[in-house]
Amino acid sequence: MSEQEIMAIVQKEISCNSHSWEHIMRVYNLCLQIAAKERNVDMEVLRVAALLHDIGREKENKDKTGKVDHAIEGAKMAVAILKEKNFVKIEEVKHCILAHRKRTAEEPKTIEAKILFDADKIDCMGAVGIARNFMFAGQHGQRLTLDYKMPKCSYIKDVSKHNPIMEYDLALKNMDKKLYTKEGKRIGKERQAYLDDFFTRLKEEMQLN
Ligand SMILES: [Fe+2]
Ligand SMILES: [Fe+2]
Repeated sequence: MSEQEIMAIVQKEISCNSHSWEHIMRVYNLCLQIAAKERNVDMEVLRVAALLHDIGREKENKDKTGKVDHAIEGAKMAVAILKEKNFVKIEEVKHCILAHRKRTAEEPKTIEAKILFDADKIDCMGAVGIARNFMFAGQHGQRLTLDYKMPKCSYIKDVSKHNPIMEYDLALKNMDKKLYTKEGKRIGKERQAYLDDFFTRLKEEMQLN
């Protein structure tokens, strides 16, 4: 099974702006960058997992109940695709996809899953992360401060009630501390500083502090 075949399948499935094909390619390239500094990485598993990791995103976006988790849905879809192509390391790829999401219970256990997790989180940080956060907010009709209250849980079922500042407070703040790999932490630390500066300033200007 060639990477081009997987790319063609993923491109058909993905249309979300903030989780677009561009996001997949950035994550893929970050995976290669991080993997270059790690030992004993199965590059075939990592490359395939990076390409397929958000394939369930459309299903989660269309769901209003908050029950659909794109990591779980994506893992199921990836298993079906890889089985059909007689791919051998299905369980390894499945674990990477299940564990790539910070809100999913499964923790990354393998080096490939840790690299994918870090690469995916790094793309939520820095200038790209800020751009994606507001792009996602616009796509789902969110407001900047509408009824801004910190919810008890870190997940709001109706994504239109979420907002970019809440996303920062609940998920993006301290993201650098959640990363696993040495190279991921190095890139993440610098991007976190930029992200923190931006949201501190935004809250000051909006008098939210
Ligand atoms: Fe994801
Ligand atoms: Fe992703």
